[in-house]
Amino acid sequence: MMNAAQSNSNSSAVVCVQGLGFVGMAMALATASARRPDGTPAFEVVGVELDNDAGRERVASVNDGRLPIQSSDQRMETAMQEATAAGNLRATTDPAAYGDASVAIVDVGLDVTMTDEGPTVDFSGLRAAVRSLAERLPAGALVIVETTVPPGTCEKVIAPEIDGAVEERGLPPGSILLAHAYERVMPGPQYLDSIVNYWRVYAGHTPEAAEACERFLSQVVNVEEYPLTRLGSTTASETAKVLENSYRAMNIAFMEEWGRFAEEADIDLFEAIDAIRMRPTHANIRQPGFGVGGYCLTKDPLFAEYGARELLGFKDLEFPFSERAVEVNKVMPLVSLDKLDELLDGLGGRRVLLLGVSYREGVADMREAPAGIFLGEAKRRGAEVVAQDPLVGGRRLPEGDEVQAELPSPDGFDAVVFAVGHAQYQELDIPKWLGSSRAVVVDASRVLTDDQLSALASEGRTVWSVGRGLVER
Ligand SMILES: NC(=O)c1ccc[n+]([C@@H]2O[C@H](COP(=O)([O-])OP(=O)(O)OC[C@H]3O[C@@H](n4cnc5c(N)ncnc54)[C@H](O)[C@@H]3O)[C@@H](O)[C@H]2O)c1
Repeated sequence: MMNAAQSNSNSSAVVCVQGLGFVGMAMALATASARRPDGTPAFEVVGVELDNDAGRERVASVNDGRLPIQSSDQRMETAMQEATAAGNLRATTDPAAYGDASVAIVDVGLDVTMTDEGPTVDFSGLRAAVRSLAERLPAGALVIVETTVPPGTCEKVIAPEIDGAVEERGLPPGSILLAHAYERVMPGPQYLDSIVNYWRVYAGHTPEAAEACERFLSQVVNVEEYPLTRLGSTTASETAKVLENSYRAMNIAFMEEWGRFAEEADIDLFEAIDAIRMRPTHANIRQPGFGVGGYCLTKDPLFAEYGARELLGFKDLEFPFSERAVEVNKVMPLVSLDKLDELLDGLGGRRVLLLGVSYREGVADMREAPAGIFLGEAKRRGAEVVAQDPLVGGRRLPEGDEVQAELPSPDGFDAVVFAVGHAQYQELDIPKWLGSSRAVVVDASRVLTDDQLSALASEGRTVWSVGRGLVER
């Protein structure tokens, strides 16, 4: 049996990336960028997508040499051009491509739903994805699961799925290797580097799989500067990912009550936070803001309880902090909305300009964005909201509203809310842009500097900052 890292010198090993979303597309490019010592591509990369409208569109885009995902990272664009020139990246909706692969990377999504009985997970999509691999991969191939999953998933769900398919094919047990190596990709300005130049954690379902995974990752990740960390089991690796994101989600949620306190007590919480961050042990304390969105922090903390109870059988284990973090973060945009309601003496008939609707600065992803919750509730209270975002302009929010790409004139708006710190807003000459507009200004995410806030207040404008309160003249 031969696996990925054992490719011979003339032909490159084929690596399939299953799912060309925010993670899979970047991983496909990172893998296509890997080079042998002689400078030739280390891998032939094939991205495999679902045969639906969105999947076919992504595939066509890749095969055309265009990135299917808008990115503020020039390195993604360069990597795409280099892969196109080298001819070592293509995409398809045909799962037959798995038949040639020595490594298959699973980058499909997995959702969790909160019910009265607790978190619940529908594994049917992930099971189908894994089965489509296991039915076709050659013996000796390695499956690397990068999808974020409840602890216990590789052991209790994915390995049995693979073993079942292997048995049906009449192959010896263990013919297909399984590892978990979670992604820390950040689809912002350091998108590609967050894979290639970043620390990676992994584990094998068997020692042989751990070895194969290490060999593969060592060719894609800059392990000289960012050494890999091997954990003792796939459940440990799955837990590390879920804990890592739960910690982050909780750190943010924790600041929400402090933000509200600071606003009431006339304290600049950011000043206090910057002082606390001087202490190395507290350097990553978060800050209050508009809200938490994206596909990860809004769901991952719920995986722990599901995994513990439903996969590993610890029926009485509870994760109240993790679950509370998700709840608090979800309603965080209403803190800004309530304040706006108060400042405008009611939202009925008011016109609000919402600047920034992606879930994070520099990221073209609107999934679970707090803007949706803000906008839905503002409309329910009678306001008209116009949303603008340079990165997702032209797309529609889940509420149906189209997001404007161009920054409109503030004239005619009763309030302007800076919700996300995109470069466009940070580079904006705000007093000049506001001109004679008397719109109330809300800085919900520390988008404006202290000087900018003071300058606006000194012009007699009403300026409110989440975490700082009303800005005095
Ligand atoms: N987005 C992030 O920043 C990020 C960061 C770290 C980890 N993750 C995790 O990585 C995983 C993927 O996230 P994402 O943001 O890329 O999701 P995504 O929705 O952008 O991409 C998933 C893709 O998989 C495709 N897909 C689903 N089933 C398939 C199948 N059977 N065969 C081929 N393609 C299939 C979908 O069509 C979709 O394009 C999730 O578990 C997520 O939690 C995401």
